[in-house]
Amino acid sequence: MTTSQLRPRRSCLAVPGSSQKFIDKARTLNSDQVFLDLEDACAPLAKPGARKTIVEALNEGGWGEKIRVVRVNDWTTEWTYRDVTEVVEGAGANLDAIMLPKVQTPQQVVALDLLLTQIEKTMGYEVGKIGIEAQIENALGLINVNEIATASPRVETIIFGPADFMASINMKSLVVGEQPPGYDVGDAYHHILMSILMAARAHDKQAIDGPFLQIRDVDAFSRVAGRSAALGFDGKWVLHPGQIDAANETFSPLQEDYDHAENILDAYEYFTSEAGGKKGSAMIGDEMIDEASRKMALVIAGKGRAAGM
Ligand code: GLV
Ligand code: MG
Repeated sequence: MTTSQLRPRRSCLAVPGSSQKFIDKARTLNSDQVFLDLEDACAPLAKPGARKTIVEALNEGGWGEKIRVVRVNDWTTEWTYRDVTEVVEGAGANLDAIMLPKVQTPQQVVALDLLLTQIEKTMGYEVGKIGIEAQIENALGLINVNEIATASPRVETIIFGPADFMASINMKSLVVGEQPPGYDVGDAYHHILMSILMAARAHDKQAIDGPFLQIRDVDAFSRVAGRSAALGFDGKWVLHPGQIDAANETFSPLQEDYDHAENILDAYEYFTSEAGGKKGSAMIGDEMIDEASRKMALVIAGKGRAAGM
């Protein structure tokens, strides 16, 4: 699927698959996506029970328009195949995508694709319907991000996993998303975010920023989310209900920008038409607009329309 066919993922709510209470609460919230977690938010001994809880929660429904995702454990563990098999056999008809953490190579995506295809065929589901969300959480994953994005047509999103990433490169910091103390010459995440964004844009995938752990500081969340949103990211994880509105707002255009973008598109349509003189460029107030301005306006208008503005 191309990004224009994908539903918005401005806010992607993380919910421990082992917590019935948090799952019930998640149904009532207005995040664009919910992902039920079998990985790091789920203790090893709780994983078998969580698989069953997740299958029931998906089949019970009540998720509205939310994109329904399950994060499985990564392929270096012994849990991945059972996570995928139990969840997709049990609830594949009520599931939109599997999130694969700590992806390091395109082969790991291919392995998941093959397993999903087997299960879809066995269960009589539409083959290829279940998407893949690939999390980039270490140096090898980042180096291979271009190949990971193209490893399967199922890949819908590339996600930055800052906590694991910071740990894996030995970054001297304990605060996810904030600049590491001592690095005062720029943004320590710029290269990582841009590499993920370039792979996503080159291959028409969504780029998603990861979690911000200081859950009570919504202003700090908005500041950090604002950076990836400004670059062009499509959304960010949220760990707490209080972060959802901030994410939805940050990854939607400002109303005035949205209105301006629609004006540019209307004006462009007119001045390039027969009636408007078949012109290649024209002025709106003090601003000259042309085909490139139309493309920029389409991005903002597209984000606004997807957000229901
Ligand atoms: C998310 O999985 C992260 O490691 O930041
Ligand atoms: Mg992680």
